[in-house]
Amino acid sequence: ARITLRQLLDHAAEHGYGVPAFNINNMEQALAIMAAADATDAPVIIQASRGARAYAHDVMLKHMMDAVTEIYPHIPVCVHLDHGNNAATCMTAIQAGFTSVMMDGSLREDGKTPADWTYNVGVTKTVTDMAHLGGISVEGELGVLGSLETGMGDKEDGHGAEGKLSHDQLLTDPEEAVKFVRETKVDALAIAMGTSHGAYKFSRKPDGAILAMNVIEEIHRRLPQTHLVMHGSSSVPQDLQDIINQYGGKMPQTWGVPVEEIQHGIKNGVRKINIDTDNRMAMTGQIRRILAEHPGEFDPRKYLKPAMEAMTKLCKDRLEQFGTAGQA
Ligand code: G3H
Ligand code: 13P
Ligand code: ZN
Repeated sequence: ARITLRQLLDHAAEHGYGVPAFNINNMEQALAIMAAADATDAPVIIQASRGARAYAHDVMLKHMMDAVTEIYPHIPVCVHLDHGNNAATCMTAIQAGFTSVMMDGSLREDGKTPADWTYNVGVTKTVTDMAHLGGISVEGELGVLGSLETGMGDKEDGHGAEGKLSHDQLLTDPEEAVKFVRETKVDALAIAMGTSHGAYKFSRKPDGAILAMNVIEEIHRRLPQTHLVMHGSSSVPQDLQDIINQYGGKMPQTWGVPVEEIQHGIKNGVRKINIDTDNRMAMTGQIRRILAEHPGEFDPRKYLKPAMEAMTKLCKDRLEQFGTAGQA
């Protein structure tokens, strides 16, 4: 069944678990996520970015969402827009059947210029006012994602803030978070605390200086009823880096967000954990392996099936690690 983010995260808060939000762009990713949710008896958030909507077409996404809920009627699925950049993008997603939207007003409409307070509150409130009329949930974002290590926004992988950011911009201010939630009435709040999108988050295993988990604790203390969202939460597992590089890839050594840190976040109000990069890597590793080991192969199913299976395994691991398993 299709449910809203609010319904799902209220349940998660009541029972003390977190829900991974996995990105999809195609049928293989949708099926891989659902196979994992089914195997672990877990509810799940499937999210699509503007890029995914352009890649797959809204109509295709809409019917894929319908298809997965028809195939797995017993699994609660929240269909969420990832990083909406204006009110229109959010409203067309709702028309396409999404039950939840992110209005990311931390950046201007161009998706790369950090926005000011007035813009963010204004555009986010416009979306919550409209979406809530139709029972649709809204995620907002306060603070700009980027690296506390380098001070750079995460434009590097094609979206996110451009250029150098101040330490203040990279960390959500707890006091402002309280005001933001009060003024916008968002159902969930994405915060900035040192994670960035993509594979290249940290140049070493993160510690408190480059991943500020204390910011989450502080915001949760002040906003115990607000569902917190961690973006850029791929763990970038070493074994996935190794498989890719073993079969011809060239990914420089990198570190992601350790699962233990996310588990600590879940104890402190984090309810939605965004993961895309890990699944991209899981699929790519298998595609590289199959094509390297069987250079004569050209049936896409021969490499897409192992790719799906690797993604299902990653998703199952996270559903178990975040306590989502068994909550469907
Ligand atoms: O926001 C980041 C997600 O990984 C989606 O990425 O915009 O390339 O589809 P995308
Ligand atoms: P990763 O790049 O760490 O997977 O983050 C995904 C994300 O935050 C999507 O909104
Ligand atoms: Zn994100």
